[in-house]
Amino acid sequence: MPLVKLVTITIDNSSNDTGGRLLVWDLPLRIFHWLLAFCFLGSWASAEAGFEWTQTHMRFGYASLALIVFRIFWGLAGTRYSRFSSFRLGPKVLLQKIPELYSKKQSNSAGHSETGAWATVLLLTLVTIQAGTGLFISDDIFYAGPYNPVVSGSTAGMLAYVHHINFNILQAAVALHLAAIAWYAWRKKENLLSPMLHGNKTVKPNLAIPSSHTGRAILAAIIAVALISLLVLLAPEPSMYDFF
Ligand code: HEM
Ligand code: HEM
Repeated sequence: MPLVKLVTITIDNSSNDTGGRLLVWDLPLRIFHWLLAFCFLGSWASAEAGFEWTQTHMRFGYASLALIVFRIFWGLAGTRYSRFSSFRLGPKVLLQKIPELYSKKQSNSAGHSETGAWATVLLLTLVTIQAGTGLFISDDIFYAGPYNPVVSGSTAGMLAYVHHINFNILQAAVALHLAAIAWYAWRKKENLLSPMLHGNKTVKPNLAIPSSHTGRAILAAIIAVALISLLVLLAPEPSMYDFF
């Protein structure tokens, strides 16, 4: 059989209504997600490890900020389900969907479900607040975020309080995130984890994404890292008074 004919048959086969395991989460989004989880654990561990680890803690924080900037770009110019425009965020839809969380009915959504989209926005917002406040605070002894000199002592104190409280909220949100994934697996028999690893879900062909647009993502990642590097490099020099 000629090769062209064979390829045509293969494509026709995959476009029947039953669908197959096809790409929905692009590679850049998956890398973003696991790097974000890694930075969360790294920031947490380094914050617990004592003041000698504060530089490392700040580096994890900068990496988290660069990831957030990347995710904003990717939410605007990424693939179909990574785009924020694909998130169904209406409060009415959410209220309708909450009771469904308990039922055994699968969500069957190719991208984020309604509750998943809300959870995504919540987690990204909490990480942004966490890393954003970190830029302005100090431990009052050795280390300070790069923008600590631009705020008064009382503002820095207030932001340090937010950094502290928001971390507890972020921890709770991550715990809920993991519990929700376990719940979906147990109650709904819906495996959300493997698609976040290899990108594929069983969906109809018209719901799959054609490619990961990795080239575009690399450009977005370079710009995100450059922006955060500039933010850190352009920070004001701390004066002696800030430390003593
Ligand atoms: C998502 C990223 C981040 C997480 C999860 C995180 C988490 C934490 C936690 C749990 C603490 C201990 C708070 C306490 O015990 O009150 C802490 C302290 C601190 N963080 Fe972060 N942080 C992040 C980003 C940053 C960034 C970007 C900076 C600065 C560039 C920063 C600077 C600091 C400093 C200076 C302290 C010490 C404050 C003190 O001892 O009062 N953090 N952070
Ligand atoms: C080992 C720990 C983790 C596992 C197993 C995990 C698993 C997952 C899975 C399966 C999804 C897809 C959910 C869906 O289908 O709607 C997801 C999405 C997400 N997770 Fe996690 N996660 C972990 C840790 C974290 C942490 C620590 C954070 C943040 C600090 C986080 C933030 C997110 C975000 C923001 C999304 C949405 C992805 C996007 O569209 O940007 N995850 N996670």
